[in-house]
Order: sequence, then C-alpha cells, then structure tokens
Amino acid sequence: MAEIKFPDGFLWGVSTAAHQIEGGNYNDWSVWEKKNAQRLANEAGPLKDYANGPLGKKLWEINASEAKNIQNYISGHGVGHYRLWKEDLKMAQKMGLKAFRFSIEWSRIEPKRGIYDETALKHYRQVINECQKLGIVPFVSLFHWTNPVWVAEQGGWLNPQTVKSFKLYCEYIAKKLAGRRPCYWLVVNEPEVIAAQAYLLGEWPPQEKSFISWRKVLKHLAQAHIVGYKAIKDVNPNAQVSSAINNTYFEPAKTVLYPFNKLAALLADQFMNKNFFAKIKGHMDFVGLNHYMHCVINGGIFKNKNEPRSDLGWYLYPQSLYKTVQAVARYNLPVIITEHGLADKRDKYRDWFIRQSLLGLKQAISEGIDVRGYLHWSLLDNFEWDKGYWPKFGLVSVDRKTMKRTLRPSAKAYSQIAKNNGFIYKG
Ligand code: BGC
Repeated sequence: MAEIKFPDGFLWGVSTAAHQIEGGNYNDWSVWEKKNAQRLANEAGPLKDYANGPLGKKLWEINASEAKNIQNYISGHGVGHYRLWKEDLKMAQKMGLKAFRFSIEWSRIEPKRGIYDETALKHYRQVINECQKLGIVPFVSLFHWTNPVWVAEQGGWLNPQTVKSFKLYCEYIAKKLAGRRPCYWLVVNEPEVIAAQAYLLGEWPPQEKSFISWRKVLKHLAQAHIVGYKAIKDVNPNAQVSSAINNTYFEPAKTVLYPFNKLAALLADQFMNKNFFAKIKGHMDFVGLNHYMHCVINGGIFKNKNEPRSDLGWYLYPQSLYKTVQAVARYNLPVIITEHGLADKRDKYRDWFIRQSLLGLKQAISEGIDVRGYLHWSLLDNFEWDKGYWPKFGLVSVDRKTMKRTLRPSAKAYSQIAKNNGFIYKG
C-alpha cells in the first residue's frame, strides 16, 4: 500500500466540447451528419482496425444495436448541456472537481460572417462566471473541430481566409470574455487529428484525401493558434494560453526489426507529436496534452499486443501517459493533461485505467516535471464524432430520452481522488 498524493492546488477536472454535448448546433458537422448517418449506420461493424480478434467481436456485440441505428449518428439534442449546463457544473463541483474544460461554439457566436449573437455570448459568459462562483477553473477552447457553415462554404481550413475569419472571432471573444478573468485558454483542439481525419484520411468533413491539403490545413491551424494566442494575450497578458495537442506514445517493438522499428517510431513521433509544437513555439504558456493512444510499431505497422481494450478497440496501456508527459517535458513549460479517457460502457476499466495512469503522472511529478492538472475526458457520455453516441466516454452516463445523469462507479471513485488530492494505491 502506498499513499499517492498530488501537489497542493493540483487541478482535478473534466473536459468536454460544445458539439459533443450541447445539442441544437447548426454547423458543418451537423450538416454532414445528416448526409452521412445512413452510410455510417450501414458501414458499422466489428472494429476491424484495432480489435480484429475475438475480443473485437465481443466488444462489438455490446454496442452493435446502437451503432446500427441511424439516429446514433445525428448529434441532435446532444445530451442537453446547453440547457442543463448549470446542473452539470453543480454536479462537477459536488464531485470535488476544480477544473472544467468546454468549448465556445463558433457557429453560435458568429452564425453569419460578421454577425455576432449577443445571446450566445451571454451564455458562455455565464458559464465562465458560474465556474468561478463554484470554485472551478474554466478551461475555454476556441476551436474544437466545428465550423460555422459559412466558414465551410468559403473553403474551411484550406482557405487562408479562414485564418483571418478565426482571428476576428478570437478578437471578439477576447474583448468580451478574456478581461481579467483567471481562465485557461486552449485555442485549437488536436490540430493534427482534425487535419489528418478530415483532409488526409477522408473520414471526417469535408472528407478530402490529399497530402497537399493536409499540410496546408496544418499550416493554417498553426497560424490560427498564433492569432488566437495573440488575441487573448493582447487583452489579458496574464491569461494562460495554449492549445490541446494530442500525443501518441509510439513504441518500437524489440524484435529482430528493432532498428527499423525505432526509425519508424521516431518518424511517427516527429510527424504526429512534435510537428505542431514546433510550429507554435514561443506561443504557449503551458503544454495542453491530450493523450489516448499507445502504438507498438513492428515492421512499420501498429502491432499492439497488450490488453485490455476500450469499447473502441483502443489498447489500454496506462504507462503511456507517463511516457508522453516525459516527452513533452522538453518544452520546459507547465504541463496540464487536457484530455485522457476511454470508451467503456460497462465501466469495467475506467477506475483502474485512471488510477494506473495517475501513478505515472505522480512519477513524472516526482522526477521534477511540473504537471499541474488532470482533466478526464469526459464528464458526460457524448457524441463521438463519426461514431456517434454509442462509445461511452462519460464518468456520468446520460439517458438521452430523459437527459437524466447517473454517476458511474468510476465517477464516484474519481470524485474521491479529487477530494483527497490522491489515493491509496493497493497494488
Ligand atoms: C477529441 C475529443 C474526442 C476524444 C475521444 C479527442 O481526440 O478531442 O473530441 O471525443 O478524443 O475520441
């Protein structure tokens, strides 16, 4: 038995995003969902990429009926958070949480170019104020993957004009909300993920498959980060501003191919993890780290052996949080885990996964890395992009008919960790 204690003031929190929980959004994703729901439902089947073994089939059976339903792929009323935000914040406070990450929905703030909606602005101002009233630090994301329809129509992130439009939106938000409020700001969420999924792999809107577009979009998202960073800092030099960058732990398999595997892992690390950091160097006050994946590379392809797996077939390898934190220590900035979690409908692994991952975080802190917070993805079950509602990432489950929230056992366990600023590790 060992007592695992975190530094005083460590920020225990949860992370969310507008389009995944609010409901009632009209943006490029909501338009795309309607066009693609039928196809996505038809294509849904055992998770071939990650979980092609027998476990994959078993996992699939748990979720198949939801995944085969067209309605699963329509964000629709979300989980009612735009209406129930106050109750949700109260619930987070009761859980002992001290940080809440949410995103401002650009399409609500600026539904038409240059036309700003004061009611939407008021909503987000109230969310920030309420957080502060409840002793919760708000982490505000400015771009979590959804665009107003007029932005998509002007060519989305392929068009350099979108960086200019984003700059105006950021300046508006900064002027109205950044003031002297003690917020953390995250300008762009996982730029490498959205760029690859939407412009290289052709999975997400606008479903392009082009190397050139992918590189262009990454360049524009880096510019977007910088204009957003400056907009906030100009208004409030004391604000803490960064972006949420996804890092994967690429591990070379120690087989006869080791030298080759090592090279492949280095390249993957360079392209997928370090690349964006290099582009925004000098414009980050802390590292916002999102971490989910561990990929063992053998012969150039991903070959994980470790189990168990989440409902999405992602390998649950808790040690990898430590590895990625260790890797971002090179930037010499405070580190905040802005996302980390798993789809686990049965709540079978969540508590175990959190605790085991936190052991690594504690180890990183003991080694002198300045880790200031851990925000779990997510507070609520939510809309998991092209997978829709079937993957359950919530500490809290939501009945989408009644919108009733129910704390899963792992939510209660996480709440205890937050309240005690640590836990007793029983091995
Ligand atoms: C994204 C979230 C998403 C989560 C789980 C992150 O890549 O920022 O929007 O729901 O991972 O897939």
